Amino acid sequence: MAELIEITREGRVALIRLNRPEALNALNSALAEELTAAAEALDADRGVGAIVVTGSDRAFAAGADISEMAEKSAEEMVEADFFAIWDRFAATRTPKIAAVNGYALGGGCELVMMCDFAIAGEGAKFGQPEVKLGVIAGMGGTQRMTKLIGRALSMDLHLTGRMMDAAEALRAGLVARVVPDDQVVAEAMAAARQIAGYSRPATRLAREAVMRAEELSLAEGVAWERRLFHRLFGTEGQREGMRAFLEKRKPEFHRD
Ligand code: HXC
Repeated sequence: MAELIEITREGRVALIRLNRPEALNALNSALAEELTAAAEALDADRGVGAIVVTGSDRAFAAGADISEMAEKSAEEMVEADFFAIWDRFAATRTPKIAAVNGYALGGGCELVMMCDFAIAGEGAKFGQPEVKLGVIAGMGGTQRMTKLIGRALSMDLHLTGRMMDAAEALRAGLVARVVPDDQVVAEAMAAARQIAGYSRPATRLAREAVMRAEELSLAEGVAWERRLFHRLFGTEGQREGMRAFLEKRKPEFHRD
């Protein structure tokens, strides 16, 4: 059987491509296991500074696998704690960029939102159409989307199940950049190379601090940020970055 994901390493960047094109990359349990295991292994590798997650031209991912779920009972879902695996993917600390072409629906859209930011092609389409299947989002969509784009638009998408195009997703703040379809992966890889070229503790803690903004009050978040900022003064990256600036040269980060 073909692998459900493909991993390519380019220096300090890893590209993970979802590889179930016949089902528009529907996220079944096997794919979730492979993707999470890969993300965790890359996360533990100090040689990896950023990860790009992408799909095919037609679909980033068209959602959780409906054929796998259709006949499950509530007891089975509870017993398996179905979808809990995605908490492990989301907990990986290496910066992750979603490079999105085509459909990112349901779990596919939720996977986009589990990444740290997204770069979309002009033809990308986003949505949470679970209501049409008699269910609701189950991989964090109602929570992450509401925090990302606000209640009005999140309600619209979750209650009507409509799709949002890339331009609307950009306006809404669901994605960070929109580029021509054929440049999505190149743009995401360039951003990943840039991130991976910086001091590793700086990018990890920047990510952690921004993520905390979704959980903490402003005062708590600012205090958290300040502590992380102080901590970075114990890193080689801080010494090198600031000295290089003062010496008017390019920094050479050894990534601590
Ligand atoms: C399983 C899927 C799938 C999915 C597509 N396929 N999406 N299989 N789960 N989520 C399969 C189709 O069955 C079909 O297989 C093949 O992929 C191609 O899809 P088509 O429908 O023929 O393509 P097209 O007509 O171009 O339509 C594309 C589409 C449509 C608009 C994206 O496939 C679609 O609406 N998919 C479902 C989107 C969705 O509802 N996602 C949310 C899932 S629930 P065959 O074998 O026929 O070729 C979810 C969270 C659930 O994500 C949380 C609750 C627990």
